[in-house]
Amino acid sequence: MTNVTHLECASCNASYAAGELRNVCTICGMPLLVRYDLARAARSLTRDGLKSRRADMWRYREVMPVENDADIISLGEGWTPLLQARRLGAAVGLSELMIKDESLNPTQSFKARGMSVAVSMAKYLGATKLAVPSAGNAGGALAAYAARAGVEAHVFMPRDTPRANIAECRELGANVTLIDGLITDCAAEIARRKANEGWFDMSTLKEPYRVEGKKTLGYELAEQLNWELPDVILYPAGGGTGLIGMWKAFDEMEALGWIGKNRPRMFAVQAAGCAPIVRAFEAGEKSAVEFHDAHTIASGLRVPKAIGDFLILNILRTSNGGAIAVDDEEMIRVAREVGASEGLFICPEGAACFVALKLLRLAGKIASGERVVVFNTGSGIKYLEAYDRG
Ligand SMILES: Cc1ncc(COP(=O)(O)O)c(C=O)c1O
Ligand SMILES: [Zn+2]
Repeated sequence: MTNVTHLECASCNASYAAGELRNVCTICGMPLLVRYDLARAARSLTRDGLKSRRADMWRYREVMPVENDADIISLGEGWTPLLQARRLGAAVGLSELMIKDESLNPTQSFKARGMSVAVSMAKYLGATKLAVPSAGNAGGALAAYAARAGVEAHVFMPRDTPRANIAECRELGANVTLIDGLITDCAAEIARRKANEGWFDMSTLKEPYRVEGKKTLGYELAEQLNWELPDVILYPAGGGTGLIGMWKAFDEMEALGWIGKNRPRMFAVQAAGCAPIVRAFEAGEKSAVEFHDAHTIASGLRVPKAIGDFLILNILRTSNGGAIAVDDEEMIRVAREVGASEGLFICPEGAACFVALKLLRLAGKIASGERVVVFNTGSGIKYLEAYDRG
């Protein structure tokens, strides 16, 4: 059923057979990406044929890595609404502003997409104990899909992760360890213990399949826009997996003959208190150094160092997009504006993109006639500590 040909290192292009549990490239330590025989996929996967398919991300079955349908671990992830935001659009002087609302996924964030695929593959390939460092939402998603798959989840989170994320992981049966530090410290703890404990490392971009789930964001956008990609995409970047995944989807869709060469200008939005990609982008660097004393209420953006930084920076530059940092106070203020004008209780990470949108409009970097998509990556309901100010 699957059209996977092999895994390929995103940095040194080394090639690996699919069909065995793998983390990163054993030669250079960089992320592995899944490659497909797209000509073969195109025989049964067509734009028209999609219309009658299941209303979740598994509608793109031929470009997903799972061999047998029976091995798909699903809670109904993906195929989220792409909403027109007329009032907000008018407020920032845009004729077409859209919100991809990822809060409607299982566990209320876009992390469900990646974990659905990664847990399906990890279980199929024989892993029984899955470990992840998480800023919050990835942990909840792993806990849910691991429960559904009947395998163990071990979630490592900073102690000050939003309480909803911590409670959610526990109620979903995960083993939760709170660390006095950042997500990078959580990752280090897993790396230290995983061999002894028999854990498979599910860190984003340190296994090949979470990005395959995230890439469906790109497929869905194209399909929902009738195969005309938007001019601009604003995405809240932590590890950047969604950006990398969408970019991969665009290339795959071009190879499938579904879209042309044009790409949206991709903007990575970060918090001023943790903006390694913005700093590296502005300095013209190819990769990003670790951001010290990272802090922001947008916990998903509190990622001081991302393994896929070189991929993110390359996408931002190739697409003629950019990187922009915004303040926490602005996120909280703008979240209420979005809520009151569009009816969505958005997460601070999503709010960051709306702040960025205003700044980019003021700076003349987005023209009034351009079609803009903003990602709301999760629900505001998990961030009551940040929002519930009386
Ligand atoms: C709500 C939310 N938005 C954005 C992000 C960042 O996502 P990515 O790691 O794909 O850049 C996260 C990551 O934890 C998140 O939870
Ligand atoms: Zn390599």
